[in-house]
Amino acid sequence: MQLQQILFSQGFGTRRICAGLIQQGLVEIAGNVRTDPLEEVDPEGLRFSVQGREWPFHAKAYLMLHKPAGYECSQKPSAWPSIYTLLPGPVRQRPGPPGVQAIGRLDQDTTGLLLLSDDGTFIHRMSSPRHHVPKVYEAVTKHPIDARQVERLLAGVVLDDDPKPVRASACEAAGEQLLRLTLTEGKYHQVKRMVAAVGNRVEGLHRSRIGGLELPADMAPGQWRWLDTAELALLRA
Ligand code: URA
Repeated sequence: MQLQQILFSQGFGTRRICAGLIQQGLVEIAGNVRTDPLEEVDPEGLRFSVQGREWPFHAKAYLMLHKPAGYECSQKPSAWPSIYTLLPGPVRQRPGPPGVQAIGRLDQDTTGLLLLSDDGTFIHRMSSPRHHVPKVYEAVTKHPIDARQVERLLAGVVLDDDPKPVRASACEAAGEQLLRLTLTEGKYHQVKRMVAAVGNRVEGLHRSRIGGLELPADMAPGQWRWLDTAELALLRA
């Protein structure tokens, strides 16, 4: 693959800008400056640097973000900053379609595991209701949780936009006011609406797991990282 095409595919700007970066001596591979934009380079496993910043080649982008509270999952947020501002420029500028996008959305005040990708097939698979990818949430509730509420969430509750009941595939009180529940759909405000339907109220919401992938304990809110092959396999399993 031409070096300028590699940079372009990784989000470093138009082909012209990428050719310019290379010609200006700003691109290195294994510590050696490369000045020919048309040089053929094997992208597989490649690490290069642009203006001193090390970058790994990824044919497709698969990342996870620990979403902090106070961010919207939209590209064009209305009231809060966008989660996309937490990602580095090259990730945001990877050529599309689709470009890197969040797989499903979390509310502005929800924290936790969010996946992003520019692989259309993967995005579809992870977000399609037909695939029933389980997602685990921890909800801090306003009132103490009683056994009846847990039973009703497991049995199914009717929300205002659909006569078909929605149920948690797992649900337990993990503390007096802490509910852990697993959902396989992703309806708008689903956890908050389900908890409200059983007479309680969500005061804090966190997503800790998607499929077999748990939010790593060492990732602080606002941090992102590439998914490795083992993590991707957990999601595809
Ligand atoms: N359910 C909600 O109510 N909000 C979220 O952000 C995610 C699931």
